[in-house]
Amino acid sequence: MKYPKEYLDEIKTRLKVSTVVSKSIVLKKRGKEFVGLSPFKNEKTPSFTVNDEKEFYHCFATSEHGNIFDFVMKTQNLKFGEAVKHLAQLAGIQPYTFSKQDEEREKKWKEYQSIFSQYVDFYHNELLKNESYYVARDYLKNRSLTKEEVKKFKIGYIQKNPNFYEKLKDDYSEQTLAETGLFYLDEKKKIYVERFRGRLIFPINNISGQPIALGGRIIENLDYLAKYINSPETIFFKKGSNLYNLDVARKLSKKIDYIYLVEGYMDVVGLSKNGIDNVVANLGTSLTDKQILTLNQFFDDIIICFDGDESGYKAAFRAAENSIKELKPEKQISFLFLPNQEDPDSYVNKNGKASFIDLTKQSKLSIHQFIFNHYKKQTENNPSSLAIFEKKLRNIANTIKDNFIKKYVLEYFLEKIAELTPHSNYNKKNYNYKKIIKSLESTKKILKESQSLTGVELKEYSLLYLIINNLNLIQENLNLVENSKMFTEMNKQILNKIIQKLKTGEKCSKIDLDIDPEILGKINRFAPIKNILKNKSKDEYETIELLEDISRDLMNYDLEHRILELESKFSKDLSEATFNELKELKKKQNIN
Ligand code: UTP
Ligand code: MN
Repeated sequence: MKYPKEYLDEIKTRLKVSTVVSKSIVLKKRGKEFVGLSPFKNEKTPSFTVNDEKEFYHCFATSEHGNIFDFVMKTQNLKFGEAVKHLAQLAGIQPYTFSKQDEEREKKWKEYQSIFSQYVDFYHNELLKNESYYVARDYLKNRSLTKEEVKKFKIGYIQKNPNFYEKLKDDYSEQTLAETGLFYLDEKKKIYVERFRGRLIFPINNISGQPIALGGRIIENLDYLAKYINSPETIFFKKGSNLYNLDVARKLSKKIDYIYLVEGYMDVVGLSKNGIDNVVANLGTSLTDKQILTLNQFFDDIIICFDGDESGYKAAFRAAENSIKELKPEKQISFLFLPNQEDPDSYVNKNGKASFIDLTKQSKLSIHQFIFNHYKKQTENNPSSLAIFEKKLRNIANTIKDNFIKKYVLEYFLEKIAELTPHSNYNKKNYNYKKIIKSLESTKKILKESQSLTGVELKEYSLLYLIINNLNLIQENLNLVENSKMFTEMNKQILNKIIQKLKTGEKCSKIDLDIDPEILGKINRFAPIKNILKNKSKDEYETIELLEDISRDLMNYDLEHRILELESKFSKDLSEATFNELKELKKKQNIN
C-alpha cells in the first residue's frame, strides 16, 4: 500500500534534511548549505553537502543523492516503510499503519478537508462581496484592516442566521458534519446550528496550509458572549499542536532566523500588515512543549511577545517556566515586553515596523535572564530569602533536558546570585586585580592629572617607558615584548615601530625611534612605572621582571575584555562553540 502524499509531505515539512543528517554526522554550516564527512566513504576532507532549501543531500565523493527518506534507508539500512516510521517518530507525528481504521481516517480527512475548504472559501467570498455584510466590513475598516489582509488571511464573516449546514447535508453524513466542530446540535430545537454565527472567522491552517479549525471574533460588544471562540478539538485539530500562521511563517525560515510568538489572531494580522510575517499565535492556550519544538525546527530564536499587561506578563512567565526545559544549544527563547496596555497589534499600528524591530533589539530578554529577573524582584537581601531564591533557580535549571544548557544556565544563575551577595567568589576573583591597582597608589597624583587616560593606557605607557629606556636590553630579549597586547591604536603603532627598528639588529637610541614628541612627552609624564623606578637601581633582572608583569597585566585586560564580550555573546546565542571558547579563555586567565 502506498503512503498518502500528504503524510510524507508532513514529515518532510517538519524535518529539515540537516536535522535528520546531523543525527549521525557532524555538519558545519557553509553559506546556504551544510557540509560534513561523507557517511558513504571513509574520508578526511568533507565532500558531503546538505541543502535544506532544496530538501536534499549530495555526496560529491560517491554521487549519492536523495531526500531524508533515502538518507535514513541508506545509512541505517532500512526499508522505505521503516524509514518512514523512524522519521515520523522523529517529526513527532503518528505512525501510519494502513489498518482498516487508517483507511477510514484517510477518508475522513478528505471529507474534513473538503468541508473546511468550502466553508472558509464561501464565507470569505461573502465578506468580500455580499452587500449586506457592511457591518463586518465597517468593523474591519475601523480596525484599519484592508482587503489585502482579509484576503491574505482568508478572513470571513458569518451572518447571524447562516444555513451552510443545509448546503452540505446532502453530501455528508450528520456525524461527519458534527465532527468538524463547525456545527453543533441545538438540543431543544433539534437542529444543527453554526458555532461561529455572527462572527468574523480566522481560518487556522495545518502546517501544509490546509484549514482545519477556526477562530471567531464577535463584532458587536455583547457581554454575554466570549470575545473570541475557537474550534473545539477534533480528530484533526489538537490545540497544543497547532499554531496560527505557522504555515506561512515557516516559509520565511530560510531568510529569517527568528519568529515572534504572540497571543492573538489580530496580533498576527496587525504585524503582517506592517511587514512582519515571521509571527505565529498560540491562541489563548498556554504554550506547549510541542509548539516550542515545532518552532525550533524552523527558527533558532523564538521571541515570545505577549500583551503589556499583568495577564500578558503572567502568561509569559508561565511560558518561560514551561519552555526553558526544551532549551537547546544554538537555539534561543527570548521575551519581549511591550509598554503597558499595548499588545503587538496596537503597538505596531501606532509605531510601525522599524520601531517594533528596534524595540526587539533593545529590550528582548533571554529566557534565563527573564526568569532570573522575575525571581530577583521577589527576593529580599537577607540570607533566608536569598537561599530560597537560589533553590528556586536551581530547581528551574534542573528541569532543562539538555545537559550542556543545564550546566550553563545553572552557572549563569549562580554567578548572578554571587554578584548580589558580598564576600562571594565573584568578588574574590577580582581581588588580585584590585591589588595591582593598589600597588600603583603612588601614581594617584599623576592619575588625577591624567583623568582622561584609562588604566589600560597608563599600563601601556609604562610598558613603552620601560622599553624606550632600556632599548639595548630589549633588543637582546625581543621575545619579551613581541607579543605584548596594546589596546590603544596609537600605542600599538609605536610598539610595532620600535619592534621593527630593533629587529634590524642595528643599534638604536631613543632619538632614532622617531616617536611623536607630544606622545613621548605624555609617556614620560604619565607612565606610572616612572615612580617605581625612581627608588630602584636599574638592575637588568628587575627590569625584565617589571616588563613581564606589565605585559601580563595587559594580557589579562585583553582576556577580561574578550571574556566579557564572549559572555554577552553567549547569553544571546547559547552556542556550544562560544561556550568552549569562553572556557578556554577562563582557563588562560587562571594560569596568568
Ligand atoms: P485578546 O483579548 O488579547 O485579544 O486575546 P486581541 O488579540 O487583542 O483581540 P482584539 O484586538 O481585541 O481583537 C488574545 C487571544 O486570546 C484568545 C484568542 O485567541 C485571542 O486572539 N481569546 C481571547 C479567547 O480564546 N477567548 C476570549 O474570549 C478572548
Ligand atoms: Mn488587540
